[in-house]
Amino acid sequence: MSEFYKDNSDDDHVLVLQDVYKIYKLGQSEVIALDNVNLNVDKGDFISVMGPSGSGKTTLLNIMGALDLPTKGKVFINNLDLEKLDDSQLTKLRRNEIGFVFQFFNLIPVLTCFENIELPLIISGMKKNERVKRVNDILEKVGLNRHREHKPNELSGGQQQRVAIARALVNKPSIVLADELTGDLDSHTGEIIMDYLETLNRSEHQTIVVVTHDIKVAKRTNQIYQIEDGTFISKLKT
Ligand SMILES: Nc1ncnc2c1ncn2[C@@H]1O[C@H](COP(=O)(O)OP(=O)(O)OP(=O)(O)O)[C@@H](O)[C@H]1O
Ligand SMILES: [Mg+2]
Repeated sequence: MSEFYKDNSDDDHVLVLQDVYKIYKLGQSEVIALDNVNLNVDKGDFISVMGPSGSGKTTLLNIMGALDLPTKGKVFINNLDLEKLDDSQLTKLRRNEIGFVFQFFNLIPVLTCFENIELPLIISGMKKNERVKRVNDILEKVGLNRHREHKPNELSGGQQQRVAIARALVNKPSIVLADELTGDLDSHTGEIIMDYLETLNRSEHQTIVVVTHDIKVAKRTNQIYQIEDGTFISKLKT
């Protein structure tokens, strides 16, 4: 059993991966994207995952966010065994508990910056005046106030990423999962985003997992996991 495994009897774990494998079948061949991953994430943890391209980072994050299920192994989110949830329970869990920043942003091209961020609030049934207040507040925090009416193709890569981050955070999810965070941001904006995440982590005890290629970003988290060929190879405290 790897050192990354602790027993999961402790209620504080918001996320537990037990002996997780993800195997993609391509014709006759198989790609083992995750190879026996064990991980416990506690409430309020702020961790980063680093590793080469193709090492399994996005696959790992998708499984942590219940966007995908493992081929083998168990995943618990807030002590719920994902295997035992039906589709509507999974959707509810993703919608209410998880904020996901996608590697390629996945913004809706026909909606403005404001509307993209507002969407999760509409889905969760928030009233209009409260939505406007919430979106305005987060636009300010990620520095996009002046770009509120822009559509994604009228924004730079870094600005699009900030919209994606704002959209993931606007619902105040308990778990924030960010793929390739700040990979596309100039360093000053990157600092602002990291400051913001750090504040959320400290004041709201949000659990945050970021995938990054940037060691400066990773060093601002409390733990750095390194993944290679679908397996954790080290865990460093910062
Ligand atoms: N849907 C899929 N079907 C088949 N193979 C896949 C699929 N998704 C990912 N893979 C393979 O799984 C492995 C892990 O991919 P993953 O996207 O998790 O890597 P990554 O660490 O996020 O890479 P990057 O840094 O380039 O984003 C790779 O070998 C990839 O080719
Ligand atoms: Mg990836």
